Amino acid sequence: MSSVTVESGSNIAFIKYWGARDLERVVPFNASLSMTLDTCRSICSLEFREGETTADEVWLAASDGSLRRADEAFSGRVLRQLDRLRDHFGKSGRMVMATRNTFPSSAGIASSASGFSALTVAATSALGADCSGAELSRLAMLSGSGSASRSVFGGYVEWSDRDEGQAGAEPLRDESWWTLHDLIVVVDTEPKEVSSRDGHRRATSSPYFEQRLRDVRGRRMRAALRAVEERDFAALGPVIEEEAIDMHLIAMSSSPPIFYWKPATLAVLDAVRRARGDGLAGWSTLDAGANVHVLCEPQTSDALASRLEAVDGVVEVIRDRTGGPPVVRQGAELLERGGL
Ligand code: PMV
Repeated sequence: MSSVTVESGSNIAFIKYWGARDLERVVPFNASLSMTLDTCRSICSLEFREGETTADEVWLAASDGSLRRADEAFSGRVLRQLDRLRDHFGKSGRMVMATRNTFPSSAGIASSASGFSALTVAATSALGADCSGAELSRLAMLSGSGSASRSVFGGYVEWSDRDEGQAGAEPLRDESWWTLHDLIVVVDTEPKEVSSRDGHRRATSSPYFEQRLRDVRGRRMRAALRAVEERDFAALGPVIEEEAIDMHLIAMSSSPPIFYWKPATLAVLDAVRRARGDGLAGWSTLDAGANVHVLCEPQTSDALASRLEAVDGVVEVIRDRTGGPPVVRQGAELLERGGL
């Protein structure tokens, strides 16, 4: 039996994956660029019992250590990924896994990137496979969460469109290169009504899709890469905000349309713009949801966070920052704590 625990940070995309040529094979239309996060992580403990044939088990761990069975939809995705990994490495045996997020699971923050990165790294390690980062990234992507391909690395990561994105992600610069803060402004704690999977599926129905693709493949990605390379926040900020609004414009003009924003989302976007006018430089970006990620430099973070906490409709501000790669420890601590 081998047992491991992996912690993997979530990530926030500066240039987004939105729209897939082939959803099953997770082939994106464009390259994406992200920063791995530090505070918002998923923890996954996994035990592999070689040769055993009873069914795998998927548990969710609470912060007090107790375990409960995961619902069918989540278990289904986990079990498919475990099957894929066993097949890939030609192994047979039983897996028991438990997972939890370090951020409130009700915070409406996408956890599939960190969750499937942690799961893939844990299963690969428990199976005794020695994988390169590139291979881990490709395997994480096959979980169906394309953004998981980027969370297997720390710092700044590009999922390039080389081989139409099938090459997986590559680390550009590690977390020591540039520390940025990400103030995650939570305005909605409900799970989103339309999954990112459906968003990818509908994206090409927007009349603006081709225009976005041209920008995102050309000048916008070039500008974002250059800004990271030169640690130029004044150049990065406008690009990430423009990109996020554009992604949501595609969602809103898809057929049928998808409106992820809540009234408080607009209030936060407005507060960030007004703060800039007062000399506090923060720039907004959003995942497929209503919550706003406000990127800023460390020296601006406290003052900006206080302002954002005061905006009507804000539930909480999670203070995150550039994070490192997944951390692997021996022992299935979540399973042991839960008494399994
Ligand atoms: O990884 P997925 O399939 O959940 O899609 C990610 C979608 C965005 O978070 C909106 C963009 C991104 O690149 O992370």
